[in-house]
Amino acid sequence: MKIVMLGAPGAGKGTQAKQIADQYGIPHISTGDIFRANIKEGTELGKKAKSYMDAGGLVPDELVMDLVVDRIGKEDCANGFVLDGFPRTIPQAEALSAALNKKNEKLDFAIDIDVSDERIVKRMSGRRACVNCGATYHVVTIPTKKEGICDRCGSETVLRDDDKPETVQKRLAVYHEQTQPLIDYYKNKGILKTVDGTQPMEKVFSDITAVLGA
Ligand code: AP5
Repeated sequence: MKIVMLGAPGAGKGTQAKQIADQYGIPHISTGDIFRANIKEGTELGKKAKSYMDAGGLVPDELVMDLVVDRIGKEDCANGFVLDGFPRTIPQAEALSAALNKKNEKLDFAIDIDVSDERIVKRMSGRRACVNCGATYHVVTIPTKKEGICDRCGSETVLRDDDKPETVQKRLAVYHEQTQPLIDYYKNKGILKTVDGTQPMEKVFSDITAVLGA
C-alpha cells in the first residue's frame, strides 16, 4: 500500500502515519524527521535545511526530491510506504509520480487530515518532541509519564524551534500557498480521502483504516 499523508503542520500526519506503518507493516517516511536527524548529526544537508526550517519555510525541492525517490527505492518499501510531509509542492508530487511510473507503480491513497488553522495553533504550542528519538507528545492530550522526559528513550522532550507561535503562523501561510493545492491535485487523480482531524486520535485512525479498507 502506497500512501501519502496531507494536512497542515500539526494536523496529526506523523501521529497517524506511525500507526498506519505499524498496522500495515510498511515504513513510515517523514521528511521532517530525516531533516531533523541530519541537523542533529551536523550533515551538509542538515546545515542547508536548518535555516529554511527555522524560518518556517520549505526546504528547496531539489534538496528533498532525490532523497525521497532514493528512499522509496529501498528494499523495505517493496510492499509500500507511508510518506509523511512529502510531497509538499506540485513539483514534488510530479517527481514522486514520475519515480513510481518508471516502476509501473502508483500511489493508492492520499489522506488529507483536515484541521482548522485555529486549532492547529493551539495544538502546536502543546506539542513536545524528544530530542533523541523524535517521539512526539502533547502536554494535554498525550503527556509523558514523567514531565519533560521521553517515555520511549528517557531523553529530554522540548518545544520544537519551529513550533513557536510566530513560526507556526508562517508555516500555515506556506502550507496554504504551496501545499494545499495538492488536495485538488490528488482529488483529480481520484485517490484523495479526507478525514476529520479534529476528532480524538483513535477515531481519526479508525476513519483512516476504514478508508484503507482494513
Ligand atoms: P514536518 O516535520 O513534516 O512538519 P509538519 O508537516 O509541519 O508537520 P508536523 O510534524 O509539525 O505535524 P504533524 O501533522 O505530523 O502533526 P503531529 O502528528 O506531530 O516538517 C518540518 C519542516 O521540515 C517543514 O516546515 C519544512 O521546512 C521542512 N520539510 C519537511 N518536508 C519537506 C518537504 N517535503 N519539502 C520541503 N520542506 C520540507 O501532531 C501535532 C500535535 O498534535 C502533537 O502534539 C500530537 O500529539 C497532537 N495531535 C495529533 N492528533 C491529534 C488529535 N486528533 N487530537 C488532539 N491532538 C492531536
